[in-house]
Amino acid sequence: MQINYDELLNKAKEVSKNSYSPYSKFKVGAAVLYESGNVYCGVNVENVSYGITLCAERCAISSAIAAGEKTKIAAIAVYSPNQKNCLPCGACRQWLAEFAPDNTHDLKIVLEGCKGESVAWGLDEIFPDSFKFTNCEID
Ligand code: THU
Repeated sequence: MQINYDELLNKAKEVSKNSYSPYSKFKVGAAVLYESGNVYCGVNVENVSYGITLCAERCAISSAIAAGEKTKIAAIAVYSPNQKNCLPCGACRQWLAEFAPDNTHDLKIVLEGCKGESVAWGLDEIFPDSFKFTNCEID
């Protein structure tokens, strides 16, 4: 599918303003594009109990699932004004893998930060050979 990365990054940038990050002051916005063409946005949501903080990527994916989205993720844009590029954390990479197309290279991750330069990865490049629930033998 034709992906307009600038448009997706602009959505991530816009939503990052709503980040709830009083503890780290590290704002993150994410916009997830599905194969359906639908886009869902999310921000990091922190908590006084630091460890239960929700990342922007998982916030956006949760919003998609709650809206009834059934297609695969085509791309995700992540924006943080506080860092050069904000790569998804390990937990978010695992969440992306859950909703990725069979060829995980087709899930594109596009990042932009304070330097204003964007960079794009395929999910396979930053999260190769992910855990799958396919090869266990249960007696
Ligand atoms: N954060 C995200 O929202 N996404 C990531 O992939 C990495 C980290 C947030 C969590 C926390 O609110 C802040 O950034 C600092 O870790």
